[in-house]
Amino acid sequence: MKTDKVYLEKVAVDPKGYPTEPCGEFAFAGRSNVGKSSFINAMVRRKNLARTSSAPGKTRTINFYRVADLRLVDLPGYGYAKVSKSERNSWAGIINTYLEARENLLEVLLLVDIRHKPSELDVAMYDYIVQSGYSGLVIATKADKVAKGQRARHLKVIADTLGVKERSNILTFSTSEKQNVEDMWAILEDIVRF
Ligand code: GTP
Ligand code: MG
Repeated sequence: MKTDKVYLEKVAVDPKGYPTEPCGEFAFAGRSNVGKSSFINAMVRRKNLARTSSAPGKTRTINFYRVADLRLVDLPGYGYAKVSKSERNSWAGIINTYLEARENLLEVLLLVDIRHKPSELDVAMYDYIVQSGYSGLVIATKADKVAKGQRARHLKVIADTLGVKERSNILTFSTSEKQNVEDMWAILEDIVRF
């Protein structure tokens, strides 16, 4: 994928703010700090287009990144304990409204940290994604934090906890491994062609 003309097209909290030009979208969901914004930066080969932070709760809006005739959509992270209940509810509303309203959404991918057993919220989000008719692709992030020989064991915990039906639905990703980006684009472009 050519990523020389990438830009932040819209920042939105409700459908009035979503971009209107028709174009296929991939959305990335997952708990706070799992690496959604970093994943998008890696995919578009920019260091800091999507703002990242070592402190969870960085992305609080829906950010639409335009890449050629596609969009990558950075969703606010969930499961961040240090925010008020009303703020948590408002984020849940932002995410649910988007997932329910968006007709040009090609896939919602769930990001989970390869090191950790998915949380109850991850399981709920995954069920929701699959029930909504998406393929149920999972990206296990921060793969560089686990030795190659240990990864299969971690992926099994993720697959078993989420109830992922096919092992091929779990993809590993690390922002520090360049080949990941090419492989991931190949997967996304296959979905677009299909
Ligand atoms: P919210 O916006 O709070 O929902 O978080 P997010 O999911 O967008 O996470 P973000 O991309 O901001 O990354 C959180 C932290 O994880 C940052 O300190 C990143 O540098 C780090 N991180 C992300 N991806 C990787 C990775 O592949 N490997 C390693 N080692 N660190 C990563
Ligand atoms: Mg973020």
